[in-house]
Amino acid sequence: MTQASYPALRMRRTRVAPWSRRMVAETVLTPADLIWPLFVTGGSGVEEPITSLPGVSRWSVERIAERAREAEALGIPCIALFPNTPANLRSDDGREALNPDNLMCRAIRAAKEAAPGVGVLTDVALDPYTSHGHDGLVDARGNVMNDVTSEVLVQQAVVQAEAGSDVIAPSDMMDGRVGAIRAALETGGHHDVQIMAYAAKYASAYYGPFRDAVGTRGLLKGDKRGYQMDSANAEEALREVALDLAEGADTVMVKPGLPYLDIVRRVKERFEVPVFAYQVSGEYAMIEASVAAGAGDRDALVLETLMAFKRAGASGVLTYHAPLAARLMGA
Ligand code: PBG
Repeated sequence: MTQASYPALRMRRTRVAPWSRRMVAETVLTPADLIWPLFVTGGSGVEEPITSLPGVSRWSVERIAERAREAEALGIPCIALFPNTPANLRSDDGREALNPDNLMCRAIRAAKEAAPGVGVLTDVALDPYTSHGHDGLVDARGNVMNDVTSEVLVQQAVVQAEAGSDVIAPSDMMDGRVGAIRAALETGGHHDVQIMAYAAKYASAYYGPFRDAVGTRGLLKGDKRGYQMDSANAEEALREVALDLAEGADTVMVKPGLPYLDIVRRVKERFEVPVFAYQVSGEYAMIEASVAAGAGDRDALVLETLMAFKRAGASGVLTYHAPLAARLMGA
């Protein structure tokens, strides 16, 4: 590299004025980088705040439609839906996931009707529908059974696509499910429905508030280490991504976000496909806790964190701070 040395070179010259900092910025944040996760609950006119996720609520279906319109007004391209299934509809086999009139499907239809131009991403996994809180069907020893679970997930994905989902996002970590879902979507004529695979999803302590939000914290028996990844592993994440792409995923996701930025960067460099990061509930809660403790400024923390994802190579971020961030970006 040809480079002058001090004082001919003064790195601060391009930094001193705001106009210049803007001019040389290597990374730019826009509302188009955001995916907004939303929690759906029953009833009508309902907003239920979630204690462990201060500032985030569950919304009844017609209020999800309002959120979709809000996303549109803010320039947020996509929302992600998660249902809090009523307790009486949860079962060992999670069959409510296949009900074309379940909360998820009703929310998809309401969001697409209210704001057809906003993408709707839907989670494929059984945990919000099972009485044991696992993402799949469990055998007598408590192990989640891969192949039978995958068959149910395929049906769940088709039900969601039929309700109008634009992006199927399998978050269950079963082997082979992306290929099986892709085949079923093709057979069903859903050629343009995307798959965003939760390709590298780690068994994480950062999911606690989410489990409150979808009502699985008290239900979950054991942990998810038998199917979600071990935080010790990075090479394995690359294999997971390679498999999901080979099976027909359009985009891939790394989850959690900030603690796994090295994975985001390596996936981007290796595969050159759109990579998304999920800044999960525990990460959101940590920012909110530090703000509440007077340790930091929310707006600045949010923007700096989102910049980190983008700089690492993420095409976008699923974040509960999406509406705030869009406003801060001048939406
Ligand atoms: C479940 C799922 C989880 C999240 C998204 N989908 C939790 C889990 O795997 O237990 C976590 C998201 C968050 O913490 O914000 N399939």
